Amino acid sequence: MAGAFISFEGIDGSGKSTQARVLFETLVAKGIPAHLTREPGGSAGAEDIRALVLNGAADRWSPETELLLFTAARRDHLEKTIRPRLAAGKVVICDRFADSTRIYQGLTRGDLRASVDALHALMIGIEPDLTVLIDLPAEAGLARATARAGADMRFEGMGLAVQQAARGGFLALARANPTRFAVRDGARDQAVIARDVWDVAVARIAAR
Ligand code: ADP
Ligand code: TYD
Repeated sequence: MAGAFISFEGIDGSGKSTQARVLFETLVAKGIPAHLTREPGGSAGAEDIRALVLNGAADRWSPETELLLFTAARRDHLEKTIRPRLAAGKVVICDRFADSTRIYQGLTRGDLRASVDALHALMIGIEPDLTVLIDLPAEAGLARATARAGADMRFEGMGLAVQQAARGGFLALARANPTRFAVRDGARDQAVIARDVWDVAVARIAAR
C-alpha cells in the first residue's frame, strides 16, 4: 500500500482523538505501516509552539498572531514528520490539520479566512487524502471536553456558542469538499464509529 494522509477533525470533545488512535492501532495490528500525529504539535518545534498557543489567558494572542503560530507549527510538522513518513509509504493519521485553522482562525476566533487560505497556499500547500469529520452536537462535545479537562484550557473555556459555530463551519467545509471529507456521527458507541471509520479509511488507502 502507498502512503496516505488522513486527518480527523471535529469540535473539542467530538471523539476525534479516540478514533484517530483506534484507526492507527488497527492499521499497525494488521501490519500496515502507520504514524499517529496531532496538531498543533507533532514535531519537537511544533510541540513547543503548541505550549505557547494553548496555555495562558484567552487574550494572550490576537487571532492574527494565533494564525501565524498555528501555521508555523504546521510547517515544521510537515517538514519534520508528515512529508518524510508519506515518502516512506506510511499512512499518516493526523488529529486536526488545516481545516481546524479554517474554522477557528478563519471563522470562530477570527474572521480571517482569506488570510488562512493565503498562508496555506504559500506555506503548506497540501490537503489530506481523506478527512474524517466526527460530527457531534456542541452540547455533547462540551460536556465530554469538560469532563476530561486538562491543562490546555485556553480554548475550551470559550463556550457553547463558539462550539456551535465551529460545528456548523466544519459541516459546511465538508459539504464544499465532498470528495475529501467523510462525515461520521460521533454520538454513537465508540466501537461502532471505529468500524465505520475503518471502512472509509481502508477504501481510501487502497485507492492511492
Ligand atoms: P477530541 O479529541 O475530539 O477532543 P476525545 O477523543 O479526546 O475527543 O474524546 C473526548 C472524551 O469523550 C474522552 O473522555 C473520550 O473517552 C470520550 N469519548 C470519545 N468517544 C466517545 C463516544 N463515542 N462516546 C462517548 N464518549 C466518548
Ligand atoms: P486539541 O488539542 O486537538 O483539542 P481537543 O482534543 O480538545 O479537540 O486542539 C487544541 C485547540 O486548538 C482546539 O480548541 C482547536 C485549536 N486549534 C486552532 O484553533 N487552530 C488550529 O489550526 C488547530 C490545529 C487547533
